[in-house]
Amino acid sequence: MTTTPAENIEIRSYLRAEEERTLADDVLDGLTRPFKELPPKHLYDARGSELFDLICEQPEYYPTRTETAILRERGDEIAATTRAAELVELGAGSVDAKTRALLGALSEAGTLARYVPVDVSESTVRASAAVVAGEHPGVAVHGLVGDIERHLDHLPDPVGPRVLAFLGGTVGNFLPGARRRFLRDLAGRLQAEDHLLIGTDLVKDPAVLEAAYNDAAGVTAAFNRNVLTVMNRELGATFDLEAFEHVAFFDRDRQWIDIRLRALVRQWVDVPALDLAIDFRAREEMRTEISTKFTRARVEGDLGAAGLEPAAWLTDPDGLYALTLARPR
Ligand code: TRP
Repeated sequence: MTTTPAENIEIRSYLRAEEERTLADDVLDGLTRPFKELPPKHLYDARGSELFDLICEQPEYYPTRTETAILRERGDEIAATTRAAELVELGAGSVDAKTRALLGALSEAGTLARYVPVDVSESTVRASAAVVAGEHPGVAVHGLVGDIERHLDHLPDPVGPRVLAFLGGTVGNFLPGARRRFLRDLAGRLQAEDHLLIGTDLVKDPAVLEAAYNDAAGVTAAFNRNVLTVMNRELGATFDLEAFEHVAFFDRDRQWIDIRLRALVRQWVDVPALDLAIDFRAREEMRTEISTKFTRARVEGDLGAAGLEPAAWLTDPDGLYALTLARPR
């Protein structure tokens, strides 16, 4: 654990050595299965986080700008409902227009005292802390470098009513059972005066959905392939980036975008750190992410199962995306 003392800024990291092992375990689990699969968090090293920011700027990728517009429109309503002293942002990424819209609304309402970004990328958390401290001198920043599924016990004690924000549709990146488990875990961390704010992408025309994950500039493809670079660097693996292609399609039955890497030819990949050789058949795929698309009923069902009740459903005029404010029932 490291702490950086600076006025109003504190950063604690719970990753490091341990994280390398997590990647190794995940690779061993995921790539020895009959259907290969990796957890999405390994996509987000420093380079991956940069590429993700670029995805958010692509014309086909509407979720980010739509969520930002909703937060700009309805931020004051969120502030009035929550009276939040603290914004905890899970999987915060860099300080972007969404974070700014929320922080702006809460600070204008005069209640905001602290911002707590949580992310697996230490460089991202450090940069965010500096940016927010600069833009909101009266607001303390307590950054937590860690995994939202393992390290939330290390959240600082609340300084008042809290909003736990889980934006960007990241809740949709869990499989259904894990999603409910995670929401239940979050619900268990809420006090009576706290709120959860979750961003969910909504079901719509499959062509629109699929375009968002197959941008013409190829940024999503580069982001997806970056996980191969991560395994090469961290585990000494021998993935040839040119030998895999990006695949993303809408699974109409499960209502999620299924994101995969497909081996172009038969190949063996060595993973020396695991003393493992992985066999890929020609056209064999490994899943790197799912991105679930929601209906209002599905969101409310998930919240209900976690013991939460919706306090507000905030959506854009075209019904592309929704933010749900929820509280303990
Ligand atoms: N949370 C984002 C989403 O579900 C993550 C994402 C966007 C993503 N594009 C991606 C993840 C491509 C992997 C590959 O939309």
